[in-house]
Amino acid sequence: MDSPIHNPSASGHQIHCIATFTFNSRKTNLNYPDILTDKSNSMCGIVGYIGNKPAEPILIEGLKRLEYRGYDSVGIAVIRDGKIYLQKCPGRISNLEQQLRDNPPAAPAANNNPIQESTKSTIGIAHTRWATHGKANKVNAHPHTDCSGKIAIVHNGIIENYASLKQVLIEKGHQFTSQTDSEILAHLIEEFYQGGKVDFVQAVQSALREVSGTYGLAVICADQPDILVAARKGSPLIVGVGADEYIVASDAAAIVAHTANVVYLNDNEVAVAGKDGLKTLTLDNALISKQVEQIECSLEEIALGGYEHFMLKEIFEQPECLRNTLRGRLNLQDETIQLGGLTEVSKELIKIRRIILTGCGTAWHAGLIGEYLFEDIAKIPAEVEYASELRYRNPIIEDATAVIAVSQSGETADTLSALREVKQKGALTLGVVNVVGSSIARETDAGVYLHVGPEIGVASTKAFTAQITVLALISLYLGRRRFLSQATLQYYMEQLSAIPDKVEEVLQQSDKIAQIARECYQHNNWLFLGRGYNYPIALEGALKLKEISYIHAEGLPAAEMKHGPIALIHEGMPVVFLATRCSTYEKILGNIQEVRARGGRIIAIATRGDGSITKYADDVLFIPDCPVPLTPILTVVPLQLLAYHAAVARGCDVDKPRNLAKSVTVE
Ligand code: M6R
Repeated sequence: MDSPIHNPSASGHQIHCIATFTFNSRKTNLNYPDILTDKSNSMCGIVGYIGNKPAEPILIEGLKRLEYRGYDSVGIAVIRDGKIYLQKCPGRISNLEQQLRDNPPAAPAANNNPIQESTKSTIGIAHTRWATHGKANKVNAHPHTDCSGKIAIVHNGIIENYASLKQVLIEKGHQFTSQTDSEILAHLIEEFYQGGKVDFVQAVQSALREVSGTYGLAVICADQPDILVAARKGSPLIVGVGADEYIVASDAAAIVAHTANVVYLNDNEVAVAGKDGLKTLTLDNALISKQVEQIECSLEEIALGGYEHFMLKEIFEQPECLRNTLRGRLNLQDETIQLGGLTEVSKELIKIRRIILTGCGTAWHAGLIGEYLFEDIAKIPAEVEYASELRYRNPIIEDATAVIAVSQSGETADTLSALREVKQKGALTLGVVNVVGSSIARETDAGVYLHVGPEIGVASTKAFTAQITVLALISLYLGRRRFLSQATLQYYMEQLSAIPDKVEEVLQQSDKIAQIARECYQHNNWLFLGRGYNYPIALEGALKLKEISYIHAEGLPAAEMKHGPIALIHEGMPVVFLATRCSTYEKILGNIQEVRARGGRIIAIATRGDGSITKYADDVLFIPDCPVPLTPILTVVPLQLLAYHAAVARGCDVDKPRNLAKSVTVE
C-alpha cells in the first residue's frame, strides 16, 4: 500500500495538518457529496484501540463515554497471544466489568485482578448496543466473530441485505449464532479472507462491497494483531490519532481523553491503523488523502462535575452555554448580528422568500418557535415540519426557499434524510447544529453552531435553549436585511444579551420546583398548556416529562383544551399553565379558571410581578420579564426542572431513559 496519511515514525509524530471545523460555504462544504443515501442506521456506540497501552481499560472507559448511544447490551474483544478473547453480556457496562472481574477472558491473574492481567492486549474493539435486529441478550451483543473465531467485528448500522447474504453463507457452511444483521459481516469477511490466503484489509473491502445498508465498523483479526480496520457508510466514525496509538469510535466522547487529533471518515472509506501509521482507503483500495483535524471538547466538559445527573448539570449549565452561544455574535458596539457561518450565503439569504424548519422531537419544538420568530421578526413566511414527514411527502421546494435543519447531534437520520431530499430539490440548506463536524453540519450549505458543548443527557435541555437563541439570532440577522429597524434590532440585542442572567434567576427556584414535583409525581397524567410562543414550550414540557419519568403528558394550545381534552381533568390532576404576560394572558386566566373549577392542580409559570396569578394557581413559578419572542428560553427552564425532579422522585434513570438513545440514527 501507499504511504500512510499519519505515520508516527516518518513524521516524527507530527500531524500533517490541523484544522478546526466551521460551517463552510456551499463551495467548500461538500465533504462527502456521494452519500445521498436514505438508508437507516442504528445507534450503538463502537470503540476500537490499537497502540502500545493496555487496550481493555481504554475500551471500557470509551464505552462508558458512549453508553448514552445505546445501553441494552455490551461486549469487548481483544487479541492476545494470537487469539481473540471475547466477553459480552446483556445490560450495561457495569455488568461487563463485573463479568470481566468474575469470569475473565483469560486465566485469573495471581493478584486476582484479571482486568490488569488482560492488559497484555494492546488491540481490541468494544460495543454498546441499542437493539434493532434481535433481542438484547448476550448472543446478540457485539462483538461478533466468524466461524474460526479469528475475526471479530463491532458494527453500528443496519445491513439491509443481510438475510440473502446469510442464506448464501449458510449454504457455504458458515454457522451463525445470533439473530443480528451485524454477524453477517464477520462471516462475509471470513469468506473473502480464505483463512489468510487473501490480504485481510482487502477481505474487509470485498465484504463491504457486497453489503447494502449502513455501517460504522471496526474489525480485528487474530492473524493480524498489528492492524485495526475501520470503515464507515452512513454511521459516524472518527479515528483519534495519538502518539503511537489510534482510537476509532462512533463519537468523539470516547476519544477526547486520549487525543484531540482526529480523522473523520467519510462514507465508503476504510481506515487501517497500526504500528505503520494510519491509512484511509476506498473500498477499491485506492489511497485517500485526509487531514488530521482537531476536536474541541474537553474531558472536563464531559464529566459530571459534581452533579447527580448529566441532565441536571446541563440544565444548570444553560446560562454559561447561552453566553457561549451569543459570544461574538451580538456586536453591541456596531449594533449588528455577526453570524460567520452564514457569510458565504448572505446574498442568497436576502432573496429568501420562504423558510422551512425541520427536525425531530425537541429540535422540532425549537423549529416551531423558529417559525414564529421568522414570521414575527424577519417577516418571512415560515413553517416547521417533522423531518420524517418532510422526507417522504414529496415537498414542493420553490425558488428562494431555505430549509433549516435543527439538530443537537447533527446525526439524526430523519433530519439528515429530509435535508438530502430538499437539497436535491434545490433548497438552500442551513444547519442549526451543536456537534461540530457532524453530518448535518457538513452537508448543509451554511449554518450556525450552538456552541453548548457535549450534551450527554438523553433529554435535550441546553441544546434546546441554544437552538431558540440561534434561531432568534438568525431571524434578527435576516430581519435587519428586510424591514427591521436599527432601533428594534438594538432592543432585541440588548434583551438577548440579558437572557443568560435571567436563566440564572429562574434556576434559583430549583428547590421549590423539586417540592412541587414531589407532591405531584404520583399522578400518571399531566397536561401542559400554553399559547403563542409558549405553545411549543407546552409541547416541550410534556415531552421532557414523558421521556424521563414515563408519566403520560400532553402539551396543547391552551384554547384547544375546551375542544376535548378538558374531559380529562379530574381532582388533583397536575395542569401546567404557561401564563406569562402576553396578548392572550387574560384568556389563559380564563382557561386556568376552567381547570380549577374541575379540581385540577394548577402549576403556573408567570411573569415576575404578576400579583393576580397567585389567586388562581396552586403553585406559581416566576420568570423575569422579557420580550415575548424570547420568553420560551426562560419558560422552558422550570419545566425541565419539573420533569427532572419528577423522574428522580419516581426513581427513574434520568440520563438513560428506557427505550431511548441520545442520537437517533434510525429512520
Ligand atoms: O440530535 P437531535 O437534536 O437531532 O435529536 C432530535 C431528537 O431525537 C431529540 O430532540 C429527542 O427528542 C430528545 N430525546 C428530546 O429530549
